[in-house]
Amino acid sequence: MRQRVGDLSLSIRKISEKASKHEDCVRLDIGQPSFDTPEHIKEKAREELSKEQSYTSLYGLQELREAAVEGEKKKQKVGPKGIDLGPEDVMVTVGATQALYAIFASMLSTEDKVVLDDPCWVPYKTISEVNGNRWEQVDFFEDGGLTEEAKREIEDSEMVVVNTPTNPTGHALTKKEAKELGEYADDSGTLLVSDEVYHRFVYDRDHYSPTAYCENSIVVGSVSKSHAMTGWRIGWLIAHEEPIEDFKKVSRAMIGCPPKINQLASIHAIRNDRHVDNMRSVYKERRDLIDRRLNEMNLDFKEPQGSFYVFPDVGRDSWDFCLEMIEKGVAMVPGEPFGPGSKEKVRLCFGSADKEEINRGLDILEQELV
Ligand SMILES: Cc1ncc(COP(=O)(O)O)c(C=O)c1O
Repeated sequence: MRQRVGDLSLSIRKISEKASKHEDCVRLDIGQPSFDTPEHIKEKAREELSKEQSYTSLYGLQELREAAVEGEKKKQKVGPKGIDLGPEDVMVTVGATQALYAIFASMLSTEDKVVLDDPCWVPYKTISEVNGNRWEQVDFFEDGGLTEEAKREIEDSEMVVVNTPTNPTGHALTKKEAKELGEYADDSGTLLVSDEVYHRFVYDRDHYSPTAYCENSIVVGSVSKSHAMTGWRIGWLIAHEEPIEDFKKVSRAMIGCPPKINQLASIHAIRNDRHVDNMRSVYKERRDLIDRRLNEMNLDFKEPQGSFYVFPDVGRDSWDFCLEMIEKGVAMVPGEPFGPGSKEKVRLCFGSADKEEINRGLDILEQELV
C-alpha cells in the first residue's frame, strides 16, 4: 500500500504553486467558485454554534438527508431506478470526494476494474489507485450515442463512473445519452456511479441523470459548488439501502461522522437556495463570453452546457504551454492528466474569475495563439 500511494502523481498542483508566485497572474486554473458562501448560510452556522455540538449519526443528520432528497426530487428523473427515494437512501459524507472514496472502498475488490470517461476528473484515478483498482479510460459518447469502446469496457468492468455536467469539458448528458448509458450499465450488471456535483449549473437544457435508468446505481452530490461551500466539506451519496450499510462501515473507519455544524449550515443552504439561481446566471454570462472569444480565436472546443469549465485544444504540449503561459500572466490546467486524448488541451475555469479577469486572461491567450 505504501508503495502504491508513493507512486501517485499530484502533478496539477505544480500549476497553482507556480501561479501563486506571480502576483498579477489571472487564475483560470482552480475550480473554486469566485463567490463566497452566502451570508445567510454563515449567519445560520453562527446561530447554531451556540447550541450543542455533538457527534451525529454516521449516516448524517436526518434533516440533511431529507433536504438532500428534496433537492434530488427537483431533477427531471431521480435515480437509482426503481427507488421511491427517501432519507434512508442517503448517506452524508465529507464532500463528494469522501462519498466517492466510500463507494470505491466498499464496492470494489483489489484488481477490480473501473471504466472512466476520457477526459475525466483526475481524482477518480487517484481514488482507484489508492484503493488498488485498475482503471481504463475511453471516450463514452460520440455523435450523441455511446461508443462501441465504452460498451465493451462497461461489460468488462465492475463499475462505471460518469460525471454530468463534467469537469473538464462542461458537457451535460442529453436525455438520450443518459438513458443509453443507464440502460447499458443496467443490462450489463455493472454498477453505475454518477457524480452530479455540478447539476445546479446546467445552462441551456435540463439535467438528466443516467441513474434514473439503472437499478444498480449511485448518485453523488455535494454543497461544494452549488452553494459556494467548498471548504465546508459536506456531500452525500444516494443509493439503495443495502449498499449504504457497507458505505457506513467505510465512513466509520474514516471519519466517524461529518462535522455537525457544517451539516446544519448545509440544510439551511439547500432549503434557502435563491443564491443558486443568481450564481447560475453569472456563470452563464461568463460561459457566453468565453464561448464567443474562443470561437473568435478559432480554437477547437465544445461549448460547455454546464459546470464552469471549458477545454480547448491549443495544438501544443499542454504542460509546456501552461507553464509558459503562467510567465505571461494566465494560469490554466494542462489537459494531459485528464486523459490520453487531451495532451494538447487546457482547462480554463470560469467559475473562479469575473468577466474582466476572463477577458484579461483571454487577451493573453489570443496574443499567444492567434
Ligand atoms: C467532478 C467533480 N467531482 C467531485 C468534486 C469534489 O467535490 P467535493 O468538494 O464536494 O468533494 C469536484 C471538485 O472539483 C469535481 O470537479
